[in-house]
Amino acid sequence: MVAEPLRPGQLRVERDGSRSRYAALLDGSVVGVAEFVEHGDVVAMTHTFVEPAQEGRGIGTILAREALADLRRRGLRVDPRCPFIAAHIARNPGSAELASG
Ligand SMILES: CC(C)(COP(=O)(O)OP(=O)(O)OC[C@H]1O[C@@H](n2cnc3c(N)ncnc32)[C@H](O)[C@@H]1OP(=O)(O)O)[C@@H](O)C(=O)NCCC(=O)NCCS
Repeated sequence: MVAEPLRPGQLRVERDGSRSRYAALLDGSVVGVAEFVEHGDVVAMTHTFVEPAQEGRGIGTILAREALADLRRRGLRVDPRCPFIAAHIARNPGSAELASG
């Protein structure tokens, strides 16, 4: 099945600090999440999930990009424990301030 491309503005990414996650909303409904754990100024990105029916449309990529941009704006460093986030950072050098050690 070929997924329909996303329309401009159809997808929104919101930080939900109370649930330690960024949520991807497609036409207002949550279709993906990027979970994190904060340790001071280091944020471990632990898990990313996109609803199976919505996979392969670029939602995970937009979620990763927006979450990392928000963390950078907040001056936080990223510990990419989730392999999908780690792969995104490897493909987009400079998208995150990485935690060292
Ligand atoms: C991984 C996941 C979040 C990707 O979401 P998505 O919306 O389908 O992602 P995109 O459409 O933006 O695809 C991005 C790219 O990442 C690749 N990718 C998929 N899973 C990956 C993984 N675990 N690690 C690295 N890259 C991955 C895709 O092949 C795709 O590459 P392409 O553009 O060269 O074809 C989603 O498939 C998912 O929820 N999987 C189950 C949970 C999981 O494995 N999470 C990741 C580990 S925490």
